[in-house]
Amino acid sequence: MSREAKIIAFCCNWCSYAAADLAGISRLQYPGSIRIIRVMCSGMVHPEMVIHALDKGADGVMIIGCHLGECHYIRGNEMALARAEVIADTLEDLGYESERFRIAWVSSAEPERLAEAFREMSARLASLRETDASPSGIGE
Ligand code: FES
Repeated sequence: MSREAKIIAFCCNWCSYAAADLAGISRLQYPGSIRIIRVMCSGMVHPEMVIHALDKGADGVMIIGCHLGECHYIRGNEMALARAEVIADTLEDLGYESERFRIAWVSSAEPERLAEAFREMSARLASLRETDASPSGIGE
């Protein structure tokens, strides 16, 4: 039996963190290997935090903030979006697949959207693992 992908999810206090609470109350299903780290805004997540999580063994990292135009700190999520491109490029430079990182937007009233984002990321990482395990002989 293969293990579930370890995913670190930086969740904004005002939206996705609250959505995660609601998902739990609503008994929505998502992978149990998600580890949520509450941040006050998606704009607080420095690219080094993403890289650090991967270096320490996470299979994937997500930043989940308020919908664009709804950030409580006005432009924090726009900053996070700008950084996301840098993060994806940096990961490739460091030898990580850019698919190991995802940014998403979820309101506090969208627990199903959050659960779906978690499930989709877990499935994406599982398919990466299958690709890694293909019998190409490369990198073995
Ligand atoms: Fe939620 Fe900025 S306060 S992303």
